[in-house]
Amino acid sequence: MKLWAGRFQKALDDKTNDFNSSISFDSRMAEEDILGSMAHAAMLEAQGIIRHEDGAAIQEGLAAIAADLKSGALAIDMTAEDIHTFVEGELTARIGDAGKRLHTGRSRNDQVALDIRLYLLRQLPALQQQLSDLIEVLANKAEEYADTIMPGYTHLQRAQPITFGHHLLAYAEMLLRDKARLSDAAKRMNVSPLGSGALASTTYPLDREAVTKQLGMSGVTRNSLDGVSDRDFAVELAAALSLIMVHLSRFSEEIILWCSWEFKFIELDDAFATGSSIMPQKKNPDIAELVRGKSGRVFGDLMTLLTMLKGLPLAYNKDMQEDKKAIFDALDTVTMCLMAFIPMIDTMTVLPDNMRKAAAGGFINATDCADYLVGKGLPFRDAYKATGELVALCIQKGVTLETLPIAEYQAVCDLFQDDVYDAIALERCAAMRRVYGGPAPENVRAQAAAVRKILKGE
Ligand code: ARG
Repeated sequence: MKLWAGRFQKALDDKTNDFNSSISFDSRMAEEDILGSMAHAAMLEAQGIIRHEDGAAIQEGLAAIAADLKSGALAIDMTAEDIHTFVEGELTARIGDAGKRLHTGRSRNDQVALDIRLYLLRQLPALQQQLSDLIEVLANKAEEYADTIMPGYTHLQRAQPITFGHHLLAYAEMLLRDKARLSDAAKRMNVSPLGSGALASTTYPLDREAVTKQLGMSGVTRNSLDGVSDRDFAVELAAALSLIMVHLSRFSEEIILWCSWEFKFIELDDAFATGSSIMPQKKNPDIAELVRGKSGRVFGDLMTLLTMLKGLPLAYNKDMQEDKKAIFDALDTVTMCLMAFIPMIDTMTVLPDNMRKAAAGGFINATDCADYLVGKGLPFRDAYKATGELVALCIQKGVTLETLPIAEYQAVCDLFQDDVYDAIALERCAAMRRVYGGPAPENVRAQAAAVRKILKGE
């Protein structure tokens, strides 16, 4: 039975009912819907809007429904219009007229706006924990590989020497910001719209603060039209989730590259890689590829929410029912991606020798060679040019800066002496980059410790 059956002569067409119904995706908010109703009913009673007997029956009835849903004794009717209709219908079937008093001074519009907020707020800590877990894994690995030399890249061309630990901690920083963005979004989400009614609040003397307090929220929305008709909190969350996917996707791209025979900087654990149905030699980084692939899905959810909202006149419009599908999908996708991604990173084998080999080619110490000349008094631009000539010479001879004889150096610039070989040794090049934020092993250790401190909230 529809809540709004009074005005209508006929039931909704079956297929249209399926189209109109949101129960398939909003039933996951059952617990929040019940908590919201309990708080509303308690307030109605305290304000003398409903009688104590009715209030008590409602509390008891809702608690029993919650328990039965949890135990499986009560199944959700998938033909119901939405979770709000289902819970209210079930309550009335159980306790009679008292159940019909629950919706006094309330609309599904403020009810659903509350439920989504409560539901998302309840999910966020688990997601935050996943991010913390990943950051922790990165901090551990960064410490383990604080001294591991690898080529740093720009344009995917070998550029300057860095350490693997430094590279990993770049992602830790991105993920820390992602965590902070989730906390920011939660702050603005954590207000109760109950009391906004359908759009224009209500004539009953509701105590909105009491409801807010009972629900453990931090405040109330200040405008009834805004309270029921914006979903910017979902957009904000979807944007934060999208950025998490951007970061995971970039990381995945690197994992995929690093697994290739061309790089072979890492090897994934067998439990987090897959084979080919035809090529017996293959070991594919499917998990990383899926994470990269699923990023588009989350961006799509963000776009769905933005598009859903942009043309809507105030206040509620049914378009807004689509908000849940999108934001839940985004949340589920990020959660699933992290679930697979974290152990994949945790169990990967790092191959420092291959990183070192790659670092030895590509002249990534050319900047250091120029800096050596600057140390001897040459202006940087002249030092740059002399080193460029040396690199060209090395390429022509098929040697590296490390193996080019000193006489060749001196033919290009007489400031070169034997100590140039120490100055361009890769370990030294990395160790010397100890400016705050740089890749030196001591910096990596300090940064890993700082990251851990932030995680602990110190
Ligand atoms: N299922 C609806 C939604 O998710 C609940 C609100 C219905 N309100 C209405 N006026 N039809 O948006």
